[in-house]
Amino acid sequence: MEDLIHKTARLIADSRHVVALTGAGISVESGIPPFRGPGGLWEKFDPMEVGHIQSFMRDPEKVWRLLISEMRDVLMAAKPNPAHLGLARLEEMGILKTVITQNVDGLHQTAGSRDVVEFHGNFAWLRCLDCGGRVRTVEVDLSQMPPRCDCGGIFRPECVFFGEMIPPLDLDRAQIAASSCDVMLVVGCSAVVQPAAYMPVIARQSGAVVIEINPEPTPLTGRTSAFLIQGKAGPTVEKIVAGVTRIIADKRR
Ligand code: OAD
Repeated sequence: MEDLIHKTARLIADSRHVVALTGAGISVESGIPPFRGPGGLWEKFDPMEVGHIQSFMRDPEKVWRLLISEMRDVLMAAKPNPAHLGLARLEEMGILKTVITQNVDGLHQTAGSRDVVEFHGNFAWLRCLDCGGRVRTVEVDLSQMPPRCDCGGIFRPECVFFGEMIPPLDLDRAQIAASSCDVMLVVGCSAVVQPAAYMPVIARQSGAVVIEINPEPTPLTGRTSAFLIQGKAGPTVEKIVAGVTRIIADKRR
């Protein structure tokens, strides 16, 4: 594993354009449960029952009670971990250009990343289904369920539910980033939800080296990715960034 970390650091240090694709796994060490796998949200809930837009429209109170109010508490308490901070550091060094994330927790921005494509939206804001008015999720009164806007309309999170389209502008930006990079880091992503899982395929077809960081293999492993660093996001990204910093300092000597 140390060899692969070193190899990754070298590829990044020699790269002109790194892009990262991140999934729920990058935020696990920040205390946010993933969707799939042990302890995952979809072990507790049926995604089609609580995560689908039709379920929300049919019974917003149920989805607010079961899923959204619990998510609010978890997300509001979460802080960036060394993996988010490491990616922000690579951007600051001018090496990493874009983070494409499936996460709605906003932790990349809190860590300092500036160019972030939020494929599935962001949980920090709610939007009224009737008048389109927006309010910060932390500020909404949960004593009535579902929470309502001053106009009487129901609030929904500005996240993409199952059954909804990825906002076209975000999809465009992600595809451009994926096809422009020479190294793509895929961190904590199960690579089973489309179209996000297709971004590494675009990167590979455009000539990039795709590197996965994940405790488990995924459908990309052994096909799209050049190799998998089988480990947790935080310590792995931290070691890679330390390696990149050393290699660049050596080059300058
Ligand atoms: P998943 O929950 O499907 O997958 C999480 C991945 O993170 C798995 O491959 C785990 O092995 C890995 N993992 C777990 N702990 C980790 C750690 N400490 N470090 C690194 N990796 C770790 O999450 P996503 O791939 O993001 O969609 O799921 C994609 C989409 O499915 C989500 O955005 C969401 C969900 O349904 C919507 O909400 C529309």
